[in-house]
Amino acid sequence: MEFIDKDLWTNAAQRIEWIQPPSTVLGSRRGTNPHIWFPGGTLNTCYNCLDRHVKTDPHRPAFIWDSPVSNSKRTYTYEQVLEQVQTLAGLLWDHKVRKGDVVLIYMPMVPEAAFALLACARLGAIHSVVFGGFAPKELAKRISDCKPKVILTASCGIEPKRTIAYRPLLKAALAMTMHTVPVTLVLQRPMLYATMEPNDLDFATEMERVRQSNLLFKDCVEVASEDPLYILYTSGTTGQPKGVVRSNGGHAVVINWSVEYVFGIKKGDVMFTASDIGWAVSHSYTVYGPLFVGATSILYEGKPVLTPDAGQFWRVVSEYGVKTMFTAPTAVRAIRREDPAGLLAKQYDMRSLKALFLAGERSDPETLRWCQDIVGSSCLVIDNYWSTELGSPVTATCMGDVNQSMKLGSAGRQVPGSLIRVILEDSHQEATGPNQFGNIVLKLPLPPASFPCLWNNPEGYNKSYFAKYPGYYDTGDAGMIDEEGFVHIMSRVDDIINVAGHRLSTGSIEEILIAHPKVAECCVVPLPDEIKGHVPLGILVLKTDDDIVFEELLEELVANTRRDLGAIACFNRAVIVPKLPKTRSGKVLRRCIRDMLEGKPLKVPATIEDETALQEIQDILEAQELLPKKMSLAKL
Ligand code: COA
Repeated sequence: MEFIDKDLWTNAAQRIEWIQPPSTVLGSRRGTNPHIWFPGGTLNTCYNCLDRHVKTDPHRPAFIWDSPVSNSKRTYTYEQVLEQVQTLAGLLWDHKVRKGDVVLIYMPMVPEAAFALLACARLGAIHSVVFGGFAPKELAKRISDCKPKVILTASCGIEPKRTIAYRPLLKAALAMTMHTVPVTLVLQRPMLYATMEPNDLDFATEMERVRQSNLLFKDCVEVASEDPLYILYTSGTTGQPKGVVRSNGGHAVVINWSVEYVFGIKKGDVMFTASDIGWAVSHSYTVYGPLFVGATSILYEGKPVLTPDAGQFWRVVSEYGVKTMFTAPTAVRAIRREDPAGLLAKQYDMRSLKALFLAGERSDPETLRWCQDIVGSSCLVIDNYWSTELGSPVTATCMGDVNQSMKLGSAGRQVPGSLIRVILEDSHQEATGPNQFGNIVLKLPLPPASFPCLWNNPEGYNKSYFAKYPGYYDTGDAGMIDEEGFVHIMSRVDDIINVAGHRLSTGSIEEILIAHPKVAECCVVPLPDEIKGHVPLGILVLKTDDDIVFEELLEELVANTRRDLGAIACFNRAVIVPKLPKTRSGKVLRRCIRDMLEGKPLKVPATIEDETALQEIQDILEAQELLPKKMSLAKL
């Protein structure tokens, strides 16, 4: 195992309190990804996040909940969080949740959601959080796949323009799945109370019952390194989401290490990761990361803009003395649109801020430059790159690196322990020199927080990630590594679309569009968007031209997408074309349309069935002003 930095991971593992220390750093198993991290080790993740800090610093704030949308602020010390988590773990135990059982969490950004993650970890149960913006059908797919014993939800989430009742969405989802969930715990929020369903229990009443009956779960269940801590679903190229599994040992070692080495957060510091708890970023760096090291984490329930203004992120930084912040480039672009001169930012003292990390999509140099001006020269604005599957950054500029340097437009150098490589598309060989464009891959072994499997889907695990380039993990992104080792992530290779930092499958939107009786064929491609990076664009072939009013059809398609996938898909653009460009074997050439929309030169495959299809689409996109202005519209 010549590439493994054994010392790095041995030292990092020593910062975790193990029940039984691992027998070695890396073991082996069968399969295309034949490694197990920290075999033989046993631990409890919740113990490492809470109990060990309560012994020394019980009164230090663990979470500060700041919720402009509900006009609330609340601070929880480590001791208080431990009490809440022991109570909730006791409640789940009382409802027969045991080690290895799944608990599904469908909640907005409230402290109880974070407590729920930690309570599951305490019991050795597996949590699976579903982002509140997903529609019932998507929620149902996840329930059917992970079969939770208990679901935790809240009566509502609060969006800038409306309050969203969660319980009816969950009810609709439960009606679509064969799996019966014995118990649902509902957190009632005063902005909108939920009507209780037959298997529902009131969260607050149940928590009080556990306290009164002294059922607090004070122990921490011993789990093995490779036992799953959580499942987090991510969009695949098909409509079926992929259940990314994170195991306890590798996660604890890497998140604990990276929060300090990459993000520069130590005991007593304040970290603000402005992401919803439904995403990997929030799992790693709102909930677990800061708590592993005994820092304070901000739980923010609100948006970067409109709740009520574009100064809220900066307010939070100044109000709580945030040292490191983490958000998505799309959030920065939204703030910039509202407050281009940064006048709101100037109202706040942000001298505590030393680093602003951006991830979720490529950070364009213009956004980075603007952001740097706003936060000032004492704070670094740092792009970093990773995914749900990888669990923590694999490229970044690390705060703990003494030779720190950055390059605009690059996502930084590889983080220690990650083996980033470029595979050339034509030869399927590793690039031998710098600046060669190809598929971004990670050479095995993957870093320890990476996913050891997909839930219930060993075939999908191998096929989606390891089959194309044996011995490597395929990220699905394309880019290059320059002569100084900076990694540049340029585009997606597969049919995933990144909307406001959220990964969506074009296939799942296509499934919804094609189900419309008037749509004969369709494909969905990413249309560049000033704020959200990309939004989906439907390319439709209709069954007949008769009696179709385009606006009405689009309205129906938008409504169907919101109903079946969720408003976060941000689907509201489509064009009608006479035919789709396809290869002779029938594969739709989405990539050609995508390149057209990006203003890139088209690579038309020799196997194209009918070249006029691309010309027709180009003419239609041009007429609708959907092509980049600078693009020369030479005929194909
Ligand atoms: N529950 C229910 N609905 C939700 C939701 C949730 N948790 N989150 C978003 N939605 C809905 C919104 O209300 C909106 O509905 P609408 O079309 O009826 O207005 C739709 O989904 C799209 O939401 P969003 O993507 O948030 O767009 P926006 O225009 O309201 O806000 C931004 C734009 C840039 C402010 C927002 O996208 C943002 O904050 N992005 C950063 C996200 C992020 O952190 N991503 C990184 C994850 S690591």
